[in-house]
Amino acid sequence: MKNIPEFQKAFENKAKIAMLTCYDYWTAKLLAESNIDALLVGDSVAMVMHGHSSPVAATLDMMCLHTEAVRRGAPNKAIVADLPFMTFRKDLVTGLTAAEALVRAGANAIKLEGLKGHEELVERLVDSGVPVMGHLGLTPQSVNAFGGFKVQGRGHRQSEEILDQAKSLESLGCFSVVLECVPSSLTTVIQKSLNIPTIGIGAGPDSAGQILVLQDLLGVDRSFQPKFLRYFANLEQDVTSAINTYCQSVQQGVFPSPKECYE
Ligand code: KIV
Repeated sequence: MKNIPEFQKAFENKAKIAMLTCYDYWTAKLLAESNIDALLVGDSVAMVMHGHSSPVAATLDMMCLHTEAVRRGAPNKAIVADLPFMTFRKDLVTGLTAAEALVRAGANAIKLEGLKGHEELVERLVDSGVPVMGHLGLTPQSVNAFGGFKVQGRGHRQSEEILDQAKSLESLGCFSVVLECVPSSLTTVIQKSLNIPTIGIGAGPDSAGQILVLQDLLGVDRSFQPKFLRYFANLEQDVTSAINTYCQSVQQGVFPSPKECYE
């Protein structure tokens, strides 16, 4: 996808949407040549690329820097960027300014978590021509309130609340909603109630699309094993083995070979 309206077209054509996170230039270049539909510069960047324990550590400067790099690597892909922790909760102007910075950095759309307290911001952004993606269920910026990265929406009250929030996000003008770590049956109900695509992560098969963190599906850290994750590669092993083969070649004096030297 090159732009955000293509989300709705794919949804109406019943074509599943495949998204991945992306944080840097070289992986953006690879993804630009792939069939992936759209990229998310997620605030998970704080964990995956900077080693923090939660996305709460992501700042607006961090998000803009990574969004710019991804845009340079993937000039023709639809890019969504996360509004980081608290940048959209203080007041309307601060939220609008943060979203403006992400769009100027190269995002086609912004994503923000939750609903209560920033309904007006969502409306103002949509009215200003900034496509907004919602995010419900396990909203990682609330990890401290949840007491960890835990499945949400299990009881009747919680699931009704998430369903109502999803409907509100749609009526405020969101083009899509991420559903993270909720029971599959709740995703089924939510997707059936909406006329916009939901994008699931740990939310079962019935959302209109799926998203994963790129490094997770590549198996960069095999100690990370949430139930919803499938490894599509074993980069932890491949990268370590490439590095060790290089070290061995240097130590044995077989790299560089005459072919790799200038006359
Ligand atoms: O920041 C992120 O990576 C996300 C996805 C998990 C949806 O928000």
